[in-house]
Amino acid sequence: AVGTYLLSRYFSSRSDSKGKVNLEINKDNAKVVHSFDIEDISKKAVYCRCWRSKKFPYCDGAHTKHNEETGDNVGPLIIKRR
Ligand code: FES
Repeated sequence: AVGTYLLSRYFSSRSDSKGKVNLEINKDNAKVVHSFDIEDISKKAVYCRCWRSKKFPYCDGAHTKHNEETGDNVGPLIIKRR
C-alpha cells in the first residue's frame, strides 16, 4: 500500500508529462498533424514515431537514446519507392 501511495505521488507530481507521448513538439496546437502527398516523396522518407526527433516529423536517430533511457523499442516509419 505504501508502495502504491508513493508511486501515485510520484506520477501525480509529474502530471504534466503523465501518459504523454509528445513532450515538446508544437505544444500550442490542439493536435499535431503532418500530411504529405505521395507524389512529393522521393525515393525514401523516414518519419519519426518516437516524438523525440529535433527534425520532427522526420527521424533524426533520437529514438536510439530514447530506447536506451526508457527500455522502449520504437523506431521510424520508412516509406520507399521500388
Ligand atoms: Fe523518432 Fe527516429 S527519431 S523514430
